[in-house]
Amino acid sequence: MTGQIQKFSPLAQAFHWSVAALILFQIPLAYYMIDLPLSPDKLASYALHKSLGLTIFALGACRLAWRLVRPAPPLDESIGDWQRRLARLTQAVLYALILAMPLIGWLSSSAANFPVSLFKLVTLPDLVAPDPQLHEWLELTHRLMAYTLSGLVTLHIIAAVHHHVVRRDNVLIAMLPFVKSR
Ligand code: HEM
Repeated sequence: MTGQIQKFSPLAQAFHWSVAALILFQIPLAYYMIDLPLSPDKLASYALHKSLGLTIFALGACRLAWRLVRPAPPLDESIGDWQRRLARLTQAVLYALILAMPLIGWLSSSAANFPVSLFKLVTLPDLVAPDPQLHEWLELTHRLMAYTLSGLVTLHIIAAVHHHVVRRDNVLIAMLPFVKSR
């Protein structure tokens, strides 16, 4: 643990926390909506889920593009090799899921012949023709990705808290706005 550290830029922090908040809302919303009986509430929840998912995709893509322009600050020197590798792998899979899940969801809706709109403002084109068998595969893929994402988000949060509370380093602080390094 060393004195002054470099922090993520305010824009990177804004992308990170907005995607984090949306995902933490999106996953419980999904489990709520799939259990509802067919009703206006179910249809509205699905429509919201799709719009939020597309928003997560757009924010995630902007976050990734910004990361290429302004790379993440170096990790604290006290962090060992295997932890660096694990952190990089977790982050890469998180990015991949944040970008792939919405596309699979959109493909799945198209294959089921259900419309996808962005907050009722624009209706997006169907990506594939209706195909019940393809829909089943895409729905299963979306579900397996959801389990993986839920697991990784949990690990990510546990790791952040561990760094902050047990190791007392600056890993979490680097992503927190308005907080100075230790
Ligand atoms: C990162 C963004 C997204 C996350 C984290 C997410 C997460 C989830 C989760 C956890 C489920 C429940 C899975 C299950 O069946 O056990 C689900 C279902 C579903 N998602 Fe997403 N989703 C995202 C984006 C999208 C998008 C953009 C669309 C469509 C445009 C979409 C369409 C659907 C549909 C139609 C279901 C219901 C499947 C069913 O009825 O069994 N999702 N999603």
